[in-house]
Amino acid sequence: MKLKTRKRNGFDNQRRTTVPLESDIDLPNPIVADPQCLGQLLSNLLGNAVTHGDRSQPIQVRGFERSGELFLSVNNRGAPIPDAVRASLFQHFSRPGKQSSLQGLGLGLYIAAEIARAHDGELTVESTASADTTFKLRMPSQAQ
Ligand SMILES: Nc1ncnc2c1ncn2[C@@H]1O[C@H](COP(=O)(O)OP(=O)(O)O)[C@@H](O)[C@H]1O
Ligand SMILES: [Mg+2]
Repeated sequence: MKLKTRKRNGFDNQRRTTVPLESDIDLPNPIVADPQCLGQLLSNLLGNAVTHGDRSQPIQVRGFERSGELFLSVNNRGAPIPDAVRASLFQHFSRPGKQSSLQGLGLGLYIAAEIARAHDGELTVESTASADTTFKLRMPSQAQ
């Protein structure tokens, strides 16, 4: 019975996961940017934090503006990104070979980095041995 229900709905409830999220967004002034692109960038980073991070630990999102620049970061706990993987992280199809997840095609970070560049900004990553990964966007807050 259960299997039938799942098949009909096309959705497996038992595979649903919830991941704690903490956000600290301090952006009182409007940001000038392409809203769809910025949304896509954030979605890619959040999706990665959920997919590749430790789901029992909170994902932390921060956003603030300083000296005419927008700073946005997504932090997750979990296994650090190996140096060899990190070197080509923002290029096409840069997934580590043996990964079992079918979540994406390895394009998410490439697209996110291109969106940052299109706004005269940059996307960087810090992944430490203390099992902490942070992706950081920095771009002019009034991009043309
Ligand atoms: N937040 C993260 N924590 C740990 N590893 C990550 C994180 N984001 C990305 N990665 C690593 O970088 C790879 C490339 O990410 P991405 O370009 O989004 O492609 P995809 O998620 O489709 O594999 C991932 O497969 C994963 O190995
Ligand atoms: Mg991804």
